[in-house]
Amino acid sequence: MPVGEIRDVFREIYGRDPEVVGIAPGRINLIGEHTDYNDGFVFPAAIDRGLAIAACVSDGPSKTYSVQLGNAEEFDVADVKPGFTETWSKYGAGMGWAISDLIESKLPNLNVVVDSEIPIGSGVSSSAALELAFGVVWNYVEKLTLDNRELARLGQICENRFVGVNSGIMDQMASAMGRNGHAMFLDTRTLQMEYVKVPSDLAVVLCDTKKERALTTSAYNERRTQCETAAQYLGVRKLRDADMKLLDSTKRHLPEVVYRRAKHVITENQRCVDFKEALRGRDYEAIGRLMKESHVSLRDDYEVSCAELDAMAESAWAAPGCVGARMTGAGFGGACVALVQKDLLNPFITATLSVYELATGREGDAMSCIIVDGARLLEA
Ligand code: GLA
Repeated sequence: MPVGEIRDVFREIYGRDPEVVGIAPGRINLIGEHTDYNDGFVFPAAIDRGLAIAACVSDGPSKTYSVQLGNAEEFDVADVKPGFTETWSKYGAGMGWAISDLIESKLPNLNVVVDSEIPIGSGVSSSAALELAFGVVWNYVEKLTLDNRELARLGQICENRFVGVNSGIMDQMASAMGRNGHAMFLDTRTLQMEYVKVPSDLAVVLCDTKKERALTTSAYNERRTQCETAAQYLGVRKLRDADMKLLDSTKRHLPEVVYRRAKHVITENQRCVDFKEALRGRDYEAIGRLMKESHVSLRDDYEVSCAELDAMAESAWAAPGCVGARMTGAGFGGACVALVQKDLLNPFITATLSVYELATGREGDAMSCIIVDGARLLEA
């Protein structure tokens, strides 16, 4: 993370030093996909593709400059309302709106510089990282003493009520609560977590299809509604509370598509629990099987994969050193995550990308990620 440079950029733009510099990481998810808004289990980790933020309190409106994207739309945090913009300014503005609502008081505006290494559109959650980054900054300048778990909840409120995506809390929790070298098994109902060390002989590889995620919001919200419909049919609060026995006994009353959505969520929750044991016990055969089953279920039952994600997963499964691979994140484009034997990392990457290119005519990208700590201030 080029943290030194962000101070220089800040000085150039605002003519003074920042009051605070922080960072927030992106995330991968090892397994447990589209389970979080069903109160289920997820297994993400924060990665060393993150963003840095530098800020000071401003007398005028809030201004954000991104090294990658240039100036964002300005806003006044005291006035901003859901629907104010469709540009990426909505993440900072929405976080300010969510915090103000919680503390029932006005926040000061900020001058901000953001420098991001998170690939946009790859499904590693640049938006949650941005929300958390604004969160740690306002928390500091206003001395709010909110902890990272609370900031994650506020990030989800921003996403649901301000941005308009009915997402779960996985991305924000991963960016907020990640731990160096560990993946986090998270119960999204209780927010209880267990950190599980990722074995040191495994590399976590993000295999980017370079197909940007498109039209995800409507499809994502539709999946969520279908899950809620399924829960109603089954007479449970959330799909987390159902099992396959209950689902199969109700099958004839359910629309076929709703059955398949529910089947994915119920089986994925179980896979996530099984994966925790497999990772703990270094059972690489089980890890590989569970990741493959997860991908297939997301492809066939949940229908959130796409030709490029399928090609990438298949290329990875066949490559040397692959322990397991699957699509990660919301889907409809983006990336696969793979666990790879470290000593075969280079042959894995070469084989996966060349087979992927042959299959799709697209040049993908693969990067080995280090698992890092969650969002925090670097210096005050
Ligand atoms: C997006 C959402 C998360 C989660 C994943 C799918 O990343 O933001 O809450 O639902 O999709 O697992």
